[in-house]
Amino acid sequence: MIPVLIDCDPGQDDALALLLALGSPELDVIGVTAVAGNQTLDKTTLNALRVLELAGRSDIPVAAGAERPLVGELVVAADAHGETGLDGVNLPPPSARAVPEHAKDFLAARLEASEVPVTLVALGPLTNVALLLEDHPRATARIERIVLMGGAVNEGNQTPSAEFNIWIDPEAAARVFESGLDVTMVGLDVTNKAVLANADADGLRGAGPVAEAAADMIDFYLGFYNEAYDHGGAPIHDAVALAHVFRSDLLTVESRRVDVDTSDGICRGRTVVDMRLRTSGPEPNAHVAVDIDADGFRSLLLERLRAFSPTSRAASRLTS
Ligand code: RIB
Ligand code: CA
Repeated sequence: MIPVLIDCDPGQDDALALLLALGSPELDVIGVTAVAGNQTLDKTTLNALRVLELAGRSDIPVAAGAERPLVGELVVAADAHGETGLDGVNLPPPSARAVPEHAKDFLAARLEASEVPVTLVALGPLTNVALLLEDHPRATARIERIVLMGGAVNEGNQTPSAEFNIWIDPEAAARVFESGLDVTMVGLDVTNKAVLANADADGLRGAGPVAEAAADMIDFYLGFYNEAYDHGGAPIHDAVALAHVFRSDLLTVESRRVDVDTSDGICRGRTVVDMRLRTSGPEPNAHVAVDIDADGFRSLLLERLRAFSPTSRAASRLTS
């Protein structure tokens, strides 16, 4: 089993990534941290707790982190994720509470306590990760690799230039890409191809409370994406990054130099990826996902969601 720490801003696609992780025996989720992004920190933290409760894993500790980016103010994505950050599904209140430590300190403690290096999966703005790297250099050495959902070689989604997670906190993202750690960037170039449709949600119904809740989340997310974009469905961005941790066959990655625009211009938050090796500048600093087996990803996600065997009180309450 691969030990993973998941930093996220649930968010329907974060929630599906969490459920994929919890439904995959290849992974050992040793902790979850929440960051402000899709919604405010209080809401993303509550949503993380609710998803763990739904999956019968309220034993997994959750720590809340940054309420805002390193520079500037938070801009939430209520249009995509709703006022709760997890609209479309009515999950029962969690039985567990977040631990008192700040996410950066919690991540450091979990890293140092692990007997083996840990994979850090970052599914929201990189504020918590940047704070971890800055405050806990010794713990940072225990990171096997960082697999992050964010950025794009080509078009952004928050602006024409920038993808949401990077755009919210470009300074944090720049620190991560300059950290010298093994970083994998799973950006919009591949995640926009990883779409689910209403029929996929329908195929989850009747397969238990976790699959039912996932279907509700997908249907809600589709409502936004069918209106705002033309991807032919709802791209489950974060679950693609999570899947890459244990199914490296699904993505094609190339080693490239990635720089983050932290200026205040129209390209703020852009990940500038030197795909054609034109610059004779610095060495590559990331593995960049450039292609995806979208059907293989979709089959994996739907199969794991359908196969979920709930053990929690909350999950049984969902069926009542
Ligand atoms: O741009 C997509 C990313 O922004 C995903 O992580 C989604 O959850 C939002 O945070
Ligand atoms: Ca996210």
